[in-house]
Amino acid sequence: MSDEAADDRQVALVTGAAGGLGGCIARRLHERGFRVALTDLDAAAAADAAEELDPTGRSAVGLALDVRDKAAFAAVRDRLTERWGAVHVLVNNAGHSKVEVLMEITPESFSGVVDTNLNGTFYGCQVFGEYFAARGYGRIVNIASLAGQNGGTATGAHYAAAKGGVATLTKVFARDLGARGVTVNAISPGPQDLPVVRRTVAPERLAQIEATIPVGRLGRPEFIADMAVLLSSEHADTVTGACWDANGGLHMR
Ligand SMILES: NC(=O)c1ccc[n+]([C@@H]2O[C@H](COP(=O)([O-])OP(=O)(O)OC[C@H]3O[C@@H](n4cnc5c(N)ncnc54)[C@H](O)[C@@H]3O)[C@@H](O)[C@H]2O)c1
Repeated sequence: MSDEAADDRQVALVTGAAGGLGGCIARRLHERGFRVALTDLDAAAAADAAEELDPTGRSAVGLALDVRDKAAFAAVRDRLTERWGAVHVLVNNAGHSKVEVLMEITPESFSGVVDTNLNGTFYGCQVFGEYFAARGYGRIVNIASLAGQNGGTATGAHYAAAKGGVATLTKVFARDLGARGVTVNAISPGPQDLPVVRRTVAPERLAQIEATIPVGRLGRPEFIADMAVLLSSEHADTVTGACWDANGGLHMR
């Protein structure tokens, strides 16, 4: 039996995993014993990130996956089942945010942001929801956002609306797939201490935002990654349709 055939580690696919939060989630899943597929629009960066985790390619692989393309999810699913036998976990993390003045958002810009953040999550949930349900087991973790709950502070209306939609889709898929061994949950992070945040939010604005956070600091992406690992585990079988907040107290239910 080959090494790979003898390997019973579960397989997790993370979208938008070339860096940022997705890279962090993929690293954590790998540390916790999953084989991981790091997928991204930027295939070369995803391959580099995978190589950092495992230069042999036995337990980490980088692949191109544009989440705006439903067929791309199916193609990656097929490549992974061929390579590792099955997929057990999908983390819909890919996203992009734009800071734009509400009344100046063009139809193209609105659709573009919704396409990645909301449609991408929908396609992932459809393709893998169906596949997981047929196998009787699966975990889907959708990365939503505080912006989807409070309308956003440092982001645009398109992003906030799309993330609100991600939280709603999570419930719809959770209800549909619950009886077939598949859980679907969302994580809703507040502002994280990540490169994209420091790149897109001016330092003065960031200081203002930090001052409004009850705990007084930006979130740690490693903690969000730990939440994703917990929701991806087999014993998380009674958590579904949930949205776990980690926002420093910015939004309390
Ligand atoms: N950074 C935060 O504070 C924060 C807060 C709440 C939620 N989030 C969410 O966390 C997730 C990751 O955000 P991040 O901060 O790491 O951002 P990021 O911009 O650093 O990373 C996003 C990744 O997604 C990839 N990507 C973009 N469009 C894609 C597409 N169409 N197909 C596949 N990959 C694509 C990018 O190449 C990039 O690697 C996003 O869903 C974001 O909305 C982030």
